[in-house]
Amino acid sequence: MNAPGSRFASDWLALREAADHAARSAALTKRAGAWLASRQVAESAPLTLVDLGCGRASNSGYLLPRLPGPQRWRLVDHDAELLEVARPRLASGEDSEGKRPDIESHHIDLADPGALPSLLDGAELVCASALFDLCSLAWIDALADACAARQLAALFTLSVDGHWQFIDVNGARQDAEDEWVRGRFIAHQCRDKGLGAALGGAAPDALASTFGAHHYRVERAASPWWLAPGSDAALTLGQALVAGWAEAATEQCPAQAARVEAWQLARQRDLANGRCGVWVGHVDLLLTPPGSEA
Ligand SMILES: C[S@@+](CC[C@H](N)C(=O)[O-])C[C@H]1O[C@@H](n2cnc3c(N)ncnc32)[C@H](O)[C@@H]1O
Repeated sequence: MNAPGSRFASDWLALREAADHAARSAALTKRAGAWLASRQVAESAPLTLVDLGCGRASNSGYLLPRLPGPQRWRLVDHDAELLEVARPRLASGEDSEGKRPDIESHHIDLADPGALPSLLDGAELVCASALFDLCSLAWIDALADACAARQLAALFTLSVDGHWQFIDVNGARQDAEDEWVRGRFIAHQCRDKGLGAALGGAAPDALASTFGAHHYRVERAASPWWLAPGSDAALTLGQALVAGWAEAATEQCPAQAARVEAWQLARQRDLANGRCGVWVGHVDLLLTPPGSEA
């Protein structure tokens, strides 16, 4: 049984994939590729890459053609159905040299304290996207310790930073009611999702400081979603976001269900008629061990 709030519908992950790929820092991906190339002992030696909380392989699928090969991926998730989707999706792609990847699927709960060593042993790069808001500081500390012990680099993308706002052609269009809902949503986001008290939007700073404490070089880039007013993304992903924020706020504050519903209807109407779009803050981080500059 997965902890409440730790399961994600395949449809939701599919819906967000285009916005995720558009938002990611191309510069940090390129830097990760250069770092990997500098570590490769021989051109034919496979690079082992780990995708924690891989979902349906959006993250590994984005990285595969942008990183040197040959590549061996360890796809890790506690959701067997998502792993079933992830494996063939990644298998149909090619690395930057046109080679198919080797793939291992690991159906593992990351809450298991014995999980990390076996997943990270022998790897060059550990990746994760849209995962760390679910994690606690203690869990991130353990991850940083495990990476540092192996001199592993990390590329952690699309971690929410806790900020979101509605936008129009003139910029921000956030009002007091949006901020009230956002406050309830943030409180809900910090509930334990199986990996300890969740960090929510505090995750990027926690990652930077825990890896920084191991003297890692920390490179950071903003990777926000910009769902422009009237765009397809605002009409689909934007609507789904508002519904999700409203659901969380209602669960957090059931006595205010009517207030949240009024907010949801108003904002979904604004999105539907193109009066506003949505901006959601994310952060990408490339963390490289000391003395290993690319
Ligand atoms: C928000 S989704 C992101 C999925 C994917 N990385 C992406 O960018 O589309 C978080 C993923 O982490 C997985 N996950 C959450 N808690 C987990 C745990 N305790 N152990 C393993 N996987 C977990 C979920 O099943 C889900 O696939």
